[in-house]
Amino acid sequence: MSGLLADAKKIEPEILKIRRWVHQNPELSYHEKETAKLVARELEKLGIEVKTGVGGTGVLGILKGSKPGRVVALRADMDALPVDERSNVPFKSKVPGVMHACGHDTHVAMLLGTAMLLAKHRDELHGTVKFLFQPAEEHGGKGGAEPMIEDGVMENPKVDFVFGLHISNRVPSGTFGLRAGAFMAAPDSFKIKIVGRGGHGSAPQETVDPIFVAAQVINALQGVSSRMIDPVKPFVISVCSIHAGTKDNVIPDEAMLSGTIRTLDDRTRKRAIDKVRGTTNAVCRAFGASAEISFMEDAYPITYNDDRVTGVVFRLLGGIPGMKTREIEPVLGGEDFSRFMEKAPGTFYFLGTHNKAKGCVYPNHSSRFKADEDVLKYGAVSLAKLAMEFSRKKATR
Ligand code: NI
Repeated sequence: MSGLLADAKKIEPEILKIRRWVHQNPELSYHEKETAKLVARELEKLGIEVKTGVGGTGVLGILKGSKPGRVVALRADMDALPVDERSNVPFKSKVPGVMHACGHDTHVAMLLGTAMLLAKHRDELHGTVKFLFQPAEEHGGKGGAEPMIEDGVMENPKVDFVFGLHISNRVPSGTFGLRAGAFMAAPDSFKIKIVGRGGHGSAPQETVDPIFVAAQVINALQGVSSRMIDPVKPFVISVCSIHAGTKDNVIPDEAMLSGTIRTLDDRTRKRAIDKVRGTTNAVCRAFGASAEISFMEDAYPITYNDDRVTGVVFRLLGGIPGMKTREIEPVLGGEDFSRFMEKAPGTFYFLGTHNKAKGCVYPNHSSRFKADEDVLKYGAVSLAKLAMEFSRKKATR
């Protein structure tokens, strides 16, 4: 098993070739057709059982070890973002307006690298490894994990442990960043329609001005943050769009706001949603307007890393030569990997790719996002190692 890293160094050119192809041919959420084809082809080459069209464009690979053991699922997301690439890499996106700005291309390449490593070490492998190549992580709402779960990927055989990683330009290259417990936020988005009564801009007394009311609502919502939520609990509310009006002398009938709230625990999440509703309604009423408030249904849950499993992951990742492991603060981004961890205990972790000397400094989702490719082999090894070790374990729950 100590040979994993040496083997990963040998297949590094293959991992990079896949990564660059996927980078040049990015596909948006639910449209990952060519990426899925490549994934299926590569898995088949390794003699891994493949199911395509899982939860839409998802691909499931199943590798049975030669010894009895547990079932470990490993996940990579495949979708790109509607961003026009402005990075200076020679393998830039060939699709105008679409870019792998979040690094999911590297996730695909790393997990295929992991599959190569595990297929090679099949006679040492216990239990079963399931490879989950999921669509539409960036989509929000339904996402891509949920449709795959509905298609049964966590059952038959039932998954005992699930692992996934994300590259991050917030973490230095050569470092794994993780923590036990709440790791990423529940991203609840909301829409507010403020209904007033329009009229002439010179005669506000004859109207209920929804733009003025919207301004009061925006301010009051920051009061939810500072006065109504426990200050030691992470919480963010951002109003990110406002639309109203057509002309400088017409007070419109309505104003539309939308935004997002982020929380790391269920109590704060429930309270925040409640207070946003209550405050918005009360402010609107005070000025004679009314509000229609809706929260996006099926927002991603909180990404919660199992304490015991994550303790073991810390130790295993720390044993990979050439890499460091660091406990990091939670982040308030959302991840639908959380949905897999509602079905089985596991850990989601970051693989740092921040490298100033190589110009890998722009954040994920930036049009200039660039990842340090030298760390991809370590990402592949990390997932292979977790699969090897956890498939030999007893269940923690
Ligand atoms: Ni991402």
